Amino acid sequence: MPATSDGTPARTPARRVFVDPQGPVIVEGPVEIVLDDGTVARSDRFSVAICTCRRSRTYPWCDTSHRRRERATRPPEERKR
Ligand code: FES
Repeated sequence: MPATSDGTPARTPARRVFVDPQGPVIVEGPVEIVLDDGTVARSDRFSVAICTCRRSRTYPWCDTSHRRRERATRPPEERKR
């Protein structure tokens, strides 16, 4: 393992991941995901949203299907239920 000038081990740059508890996991790209059937999905985007709810029509990528659908005719105080 490479060391810094003071002799401590150098740390490898880490990939940063952001977890949205109501939605996707955001990963700094490019990203390759190995799917259940062994195929690999790849995205070269700078930031990639990975679906965690499995409702996406573009799985494994998030297409915002995790968001609750709300009718515009309902008053705002009823929409939060
Ligand atoms: S997390 Fe967004 S569609 Fe599944």
